[in-house]
Amino acid sequence: MKKILVTGGLGFIGSHTVVELLNANFDVVIIDDLSNSKIEVLDSIQEITGKKPDFFNIDLRVKEKVNHFFSENHIDGIIHFAAFKAVGESVQKPLDYYENNIGSLVYLLQEMRDRKLDNFIFSSSCTVYGQADELPITENAPIKPAESPYGNTKQIGEEIIKDTCKANGLNAIALRYFNPIGAHDTAKIGELPLGVPQNLIPYVTQTAAGIREQLSIFGDDYDTPDGTAIRDYIHVVDLAKAHIAALQRLIEKKNDTNFEFFNVGTGKGSSVLEIVKAFENTTQQNLNYKIVGRREGDVTAAYADTTIANEQLGWKTEKTLEEALLSAWKWQEKQ
Ligand code: UD1
Repeated sequence: MKKILVTGGLGFIGSHTVVELLNANFDVVIIDDLSNSKIEVLDSIQEITGKKPDFFNIDLRVKEKVNHFFSENHIDGIIHFAAFKAVGESVQKPLDYYENNIGSLVYLLQEMRDRKLDNFIFSSSCTVYGQADELPITENAPIKPAESPYGNTKQIGEEIIKDTCKANGLNAIALRYFNPIGAHDTAKIGELPLGVPQNLIPYVTQTAAGIREQLSIFGDDYDTPDGTAIRDYIHVVDLAKAHIAALQRLIEKKNDTNFEFFNVGTGKGSSVLEIVKAFENTTQQNLNYKIVGRREGDVTAAYADTTIANEQLGWKTEKTLEEALLSAWKWQEKQ
């Protein structure tokens, strides 16, 4: 049985990926420092899968601890989620973001080099494309200057991995996520935003639940059919499964080059207003919302061309937007 290290494995995308790994009969070990996650998620993973992964509370910025972990655990592959991810906060605290997101990545890669470990999957983001010139966005679209230190850590992260693959023979895949939403069907794991949610779907569900008074829609003067911005919202379980496909590709040595990157989205764009309507129809909830000005740094439209991911990874999304919204609502109701 292959043993996979999942960093940030108690977080939103990490926990769903751990479930899929266990379902696919991988042995899983989680490293998480609980800075943006809860230890109870470990029990929920066990309730869903009947298996309890090994867990280590390690801050990956502490090189000695990372080194000690690898001296005691043999690892066949790493899926690296652990990172700070709040765009606005990254503008206020850039050094925290560079130290955490870049430092931890470098320490992991150094261990992989020194111990001759292989198979690395990196959480990247469609944010690397900025406002792409052409839609849908293919992997060949140029990388645009990052709008935030957070986005920059994803771009720099990919560069660091690419250089390491070239120099040290590592095999790695970066998955460029579009907008992950939803929760596990069991409603046992889901997104747990710290404080006031910055992302659309948690704000929508918290407004419907009465925790927030009103949803603000950031701008209705975009060059889109209804004026609100368009994104590609992907069910987190579909996204989790893309990680298993990418890992299998590396383990089975089916990758074409040392370093590959794939768009992970549905291929379909939805506007903010379409999301609001779909949420209302699916959940039978009325959403209190108002239109306000644009949010700084937002692009007009981003949705994926998923052809390459579909063909190369042998993966495609299975869930609908409505299923994703309903699962997010079921999860919210349980909180
Ligand atoms: C954001 C990040 C992106 C990151 C991703 C992680 C920015 C600029 N981008 O993507 O780098 O990888 O989260 O999940 O922050 N919206 C509202 N009202 C709200 C919240 C959002 O109208 O209260 C709108 C936004 O303007 C946007 C859409 O909903 O058009 C989606 O927003 P969000 O969920 O924050 O995701 P992104 O901004 O696409």
